Amino acid sequence: MGGLARRASYIKTFAKRNPGLPIVQVDAGALLIQQSLADPATNKTMLASLKEISTDAANLSAEDLYFFEPPATAHAGPSPPPPFVSANVEWKRKSIAGLKPYYVKEITVTTSQGPKRLRVGFTGVTDPGKPLLETGFTIGDPVKALTPVLRDLRTRCDLVVLLADVSQEKAMELARGTEGIDVLIAAASHAFPPPPTQLNDTYIFGSVLQGRYLGELKVYLDGNGELSRYKARYITLDEGIPDDPKLATLVESTRKILAEHHRKTAAASLARAPRPVYAGSDRCVSCHTSAHDVWKRTRHAQAIETLKRKGQEFNPQCLRCHTTGFGIEGGFLDVLHTPTLSNVHCETCHGPGLAHTQNPSQRLFSKPKETCVSCHTSIDSPNFDFAKAWSMIKH
Ligand code: HEC
Ligand code: HEC
Ligand code: HEC
Ligand code: HEC
Repeated sequence: MGGLARRASYIKTFAKRNPGLPIVQVDAGALLIQQSLADPATNKTMLASLKEISTDAANLSAEDLYFFEPPATAHAGPSPPPPFVSANVEWKRKSIAGLKPYYVKEITVTTSQGPKRLRVGFTGVTDPGKPLLETGFTIGDPVKALTPVLRDLRTRCDLVVLLADVSQEKAMELARGTEGIDVLIAAASHAFPPPPTQLNDTYIFGSVLQGRYLGELKVYLDGNGELSRYKARYITLDEGIPDDPKLATLVESTRKILAEHHRKTAAASLARAPRPVYAGSDRCVSCHTSAHDVWKRTRHAQAIETLKRKGQEFNPQCLRCHTTGFGIEGGFLDVLHTPTLSNVHCETCHGPGLAHTQNPSQRLFSKPKETCVSCHTSIDSPNFDFAKAWSMIKH
């Protein structure tokens, strides 16, 4: 939810500054979050944001399906509402009520010959190779599914946009294997925006994980109103962009619901009294004084403060890397119930150490060096270099 309020304010300001310029907005896929299934509040907010930023089309990807349930089952949940599109997601062999293979939007553009109507068609595909927990759905072969959809769209549209939740390589294969795609937006989990490329008549553009950047594609027409060229860029949604007040309020209230939900889950887990396995760094200091002194000065010892500054200390999506043993029985539950396991303590790398504190001949996990990359991933720690990093925390 982090970038939502900034994204909304950027788009609204852009529209205000460019009156009359037609703007089309899309989401290339994986909008919803699987982990928050237990807490539908986050996903409801994501869906509400689609409306608030007037999204024209959103690709229904394999990830999003976790939130929806196949219609006409005993406990049918919501089925994907507009503006979701997909050419290759189906509910068993039937089509899903409300889910369209494509949308067409008409916009009016100004050319030197006067105003011209431009019909923009959107369709989407998701990667059939992705694991699918929700078994009520099937995901068809993208090229096979797209062929009739593109043929249909080509007769109705001037500009055909494919939203594809696939890797950059698979996006290239799609562009090679089909005909009639003008713009292909690939939603693979890139940490950084990939450079746009052109393949035959298809312009391939990527989107970026977690909404940290907003992709902007300008489409230019020539004097005759024919498509002539594209210009792509990415806008970093950083602190320089103010929050849209309406979405900021929505995100804030969702965070409160999430915190409350998490507090309740933590209290319930604690009530089940799991066997304690973690000791906390305070219990190591008596025998490993110098290691503790070093650790205390590293950012690992401040990781929860970082989340608190952002108002994210209850967000389960952050806790795995900013605390000790989150999600592991006997590990961190929340800042109220397990304060000694807030932060990245000794035991995140050395493994649960309660038994060792009681009897040091009980050995700890033997490969602490291998734990770094579970948190220092290419997304959260793009410049991570083990040798350099270790020299900063060596103890
Ligand atoms: C009562 C003293 C004592 C406490 C408390 C203690 N250790 Fe140790 N630790 C030792 C001794 C003694 C050794 C050496 C064991 C050996 O070589 O047989 C050791 C060894 C280690 C090693 C080397 C690897 C291994 O498994 O032998 C690590 C890592 C370690 N301790 C981490 C910790 C951490 C983390 C804590 C707190 C959770 C902790 N220790 C608490 C006494 C202690
Ligand atoms: C459980 C997740 C986790 C593991 C495992 C982990 N780190 Fe970290 N590390 C973090 C987090 C989170 C921060 C940022 C803390 C903050 O500033 O709030 C961080 C920060 C750091 C920093 C400070 C970076 C800077 O610019 O000051 C260094 C250095 C570092 N880690 C090294 C390591 C090394 C080396 C390992 C493996 C031996 C490791 N980390 C394992 C989560 C982890
Ligand atoms: C996969 C592990 C992981 C997850 C999940 C994660 N972080 Fe971090 N975070 C890190 C690591 C590692 C660092 C240290 C990065 C570095 O300096 O290389 C870090 C650093 C940070 C920093 C300091 C960045 C800076 O430049 O000073 C902030 C703020 C932060 N994280 C917030 C969050 C929030 C908020 C969430 C949840 C939405 C989150 N993190 C989720 C691993 C993670
Ligand atoms: C971010 C991960 C990380 C954290 C946090 C961390 N360590 Fe370590 N620790 C390591 C790594 C990696 C090594 C080096 C192991 C090696 O050389 O194979 C190490 C080495 C050690 C050793 C020497 C082990 C040996 O075999 O000589 C001790 C003792 C130790 N740590 C104790 C602690 C204590 C106590 C804390 C907390 C106060 C702590 N560590 C926090 C990753 C960590």
